[in-house]
Amino acid sequence: MTEPAGFNRERVIAAMSMLAHEVSLEIQTSVDSTNRILLERAREGAASGEVLLAARQTAGRGRRGKSWTSPVGNIYVSVLWRFSGGADRLGGLSLAVGLGIAELVERLGASAVELKWPNDVLWQGSKLCGILLEVEPGLGHGVAGVIGVGLNFEMPEAEAAGIGQAWTDLRTAVGRALDRDAVAGELISVIISAVRTFEREGMTSVLRRWHHYDALRDLPVAAFSGNHTVLGTAAGIDKTGALLLEVDGELVPVYAGEVSVRVAGV
Ligand code: BTN
Repeated sequence: MTEPAGFNRERVIAAMSMLAHEVSLEIQTSVDSTNRILLERAREGAASGEVLLAARQTAGRGRRGKSWTSPVGNIYVSVLWRFSGGADRLGGLSLAVGLGIAELVERLGASAVELKWPNDVLWQGSKLCGILLEVEPGLGHGVAGVIGVGLNFEMPEAEAAGIGQAWTDLRTAVGRALDRDAVAGELISVIISAVRTFEREGMTSVLRRWHHYDALRDLPVAAFSGNHTVLGTAAGIDKTGALLLEVDGELVPVYAGEVSVRVAGV
């Protein structure tokens, strides 16, 4: 059934193929933030595999305390997953998810998709998709991670006025109309399979695939962390998911969550 402006559950599930029976999918027309809701449920003991898909958010959250513009037209989804071990083991998780999404966007027909560390999916230098990983300590050993993805699908121009950076949407990147329900289903599949591969293998396959999409590779960049700035040449990522900067012939790791990165001179 489809709510006005909402998703069609059957069509979303059809596009999730094998993974549909492994998750608990909830679809809402409007929520404040899919991440906030799943974090609250994680605190209440919800199990791995809860997925919340919404057609609109009234208080969408972005990284570093920013808001995420969330009008009807795009895709907003969060996945709750429980991991054994501490939060430090999740360093590369959002990179793994970003990589899976970049590959999906290419499969849908966009060329020149890039990833700007840590996990912005870009098309022609404009932001197409953002990922927010939020972590909730578990009661015993382990943590709950909520992986939230905002994919600009068909962004209404009038609603985008407040976005403080260059943005694009999937309709533009692919150059044709797509089925939003099917893309949402595929997106959920990609997130779940990236999470499961990361859980099993860590960063092994991410390290192999990152180079192809790396928007910063060999560029001079400035990494800002509080009052501290590191200037260097981007040299890929390491097995913790850190960005590597070459500074005076040495590789300096820059960790997710502490920095923003700007191409020098911009
Ligand atoms: C970024 O700033 O790049 C991350 C944006 C993440 C937005 C998504 S939309 C679904 C989920 N719910 C939220 O409130 N935020 C994330």
